[in-house]
Amino acid sequence: MTGRAGALAPEYAPFHAGYVWAALGLALFSGFALGAHLASVLGFGFPIRKGFVSFVQTHGHVQLVGWAGLFILGISLHFIPRLAGAPLGRPQWIPRILAAVAGGLILRSIAHPMLPYFSGWARGLLGTLVAVSALSEAVGIAAYLLLLVETMRRARRAGERPALHLVRPFFGMMIAGWAIYAGLNTVLAIRMAASRSTVLDPAWNRFAIEAFINLALLPVAFGFSLRMLPLYLRLPKPDWPVRGTAAAYLAAVVLEMGSPLPFLVTSGSYLPSVWSSLGQAFKGMVVLWFVWNLDLLTRRRPPWTVHRILHPGPDRRPTREGLPDYGEFGRFERSVYSAYLWLVIGAVLDAGGGVSFMAGHEGAISGDAVRHLYLLGFVTHLILGMSVRMIPGFVQKRRVASPALVDATFWLGNAALICRVVPLLLPAWLGLPVPGVAGALGAMFGVSGILGMFAVGCLAVNLWRTVRQKVPPGVGAGR
Ligand code: HEM
Repeated sequence: MTGRAGALAPEYAPFHAGYVWAALGLALFSGFALGAHLASVLGFGFPIRKGFVSFVQTHGHVQLVGWAGLFILGISLHFIPRLAGAPLGRPQWIPRILAAVAGGLILRSIAHPMLPYFSGWARGLLGTLVAVSALSEAVGIAAYLLLLVETMRRARRAGERPALHLVRPFFGMMIAGWAIYAGLNTVLAIRMAASRSTVLDPAWNRFAIEAFINLALLPVAFGFSLRMLPLYLRLPKPDWPVRGTAAAYLAAVVLEMGSPLPFLVTSGSYLPSVWSSLGQAFKGMVVLWFVWNLDLLTRRRPPWTVHRILHPGPDRRPTREGLPDYGEFGRFERSVYSAYLWLVIGAVLDAGGGVSFMAGHEGAISGDAVRHLYLLGFVTHLILGMSVRMIPGFVQKRRVASPALVDATFWLGNAALICRVVPLLLPAWLGLPVPGVAGALGAMFGVSGILGMFAVGCLAVNLWRTVRQKVPPGVGAGR
């Protein structure tokens, strides 16, 4: 910022769109593409070859850190300093963090899937490259966390804003989640390289994934939702005990994850699993409590604008019914609604899984289905919906290029999720094998990844066209 206003207003770094392009590129060419391959192998019954588990681990890692993670990194580096009222201390790190994380992910996407197909010195080299990729990501993530912690500390010293105070516990959990995941991923990759293995230790890898989902992805999604959804979707003010809910959520996650630490489970004791199931059930209930209070799906309370709504004058175009926009971002809210619907279903099944374990029915609900309800259902749909609402403004555009593509993203994303999880849940609910159903479910599962790729492809084209569009001054309706 320059000029007279610049003397007073803090200088914030502009949005770095590179994070969005890297997330979309990695999702399309690695994360979702590998997922599509894996799903078609499983769904259409192709033989499972020796590279399968390496592919699964690469898919999981790239989706978590590349697809969801890079979006979070890019948006939080833009949003959190503004929320805190404290600009980033070292804005020159923004592109360097991206280079370290995205560079590591590209290397991982190439080296890890190739590992099982080589032996001898070539395997040693590829394993070393996987370890280097993990180190590169860890360096980028450490720098990101340092920037964020510094900014939040500075905000606290200057008298923390209530807006940040409310959601700080969620961002605190996110910092812990990133640190645990990046640290474990690095140690596991180095151990894999040193032992000439082709996969990361499965138990610790699963633990790291759960830590990232429960401590980083879900909390940051909750934090952003609390701050942004009331504005974008006219929800009530978050005047319920948000920080207490965050504390209850953390307690549940610690119980769920702390009890079955991989070394405890291998000790053969049954008790950690019972504690863990208790934590799992409790976590599911806290998530449901969060969604109830957010009031997005239930709309029980008046919006935060209840005392502010002014009727538009005769010369002012009315906004969309119940929303503050004119439709210039397409029907983005539909993806946000579906995100929360899938979250509710995921949380109910998560809680149900915990309860049924305690009742002696182990594995009654597919953990993979619940994981994808959270990741593909909730996190991905939140990205699909919120990115078209927020990114145009971040890059000084007034509207999204194509509302039709926003609709296409919504339909394709939901179709992908339904195809990905229903085949895992339905057979257990149907009880008996129904003739013809197994084949249809397999085919659904087999195409789920392709549908997901199309959804992300539509988003990528839409954002690309949005960034490149030339908007004449005065056109559109502002944010
Ligand atoms: C339609 C899109 C997707 C498809 C077809 C797909 C497919 C798969 C498949 C087949 C597996 C292996 C399951 C098994 O081992 O039984 C898997 C695992 C996994 N997926 Fe996805 N997935 C998709 C979307 C996502 C998204 C969006 C994320 C994260 C944001 C994600 C994260 C993971 C993780 C963390 C694992 C576990 C990896 C591991 O065990 O190391 N997936 N996925």
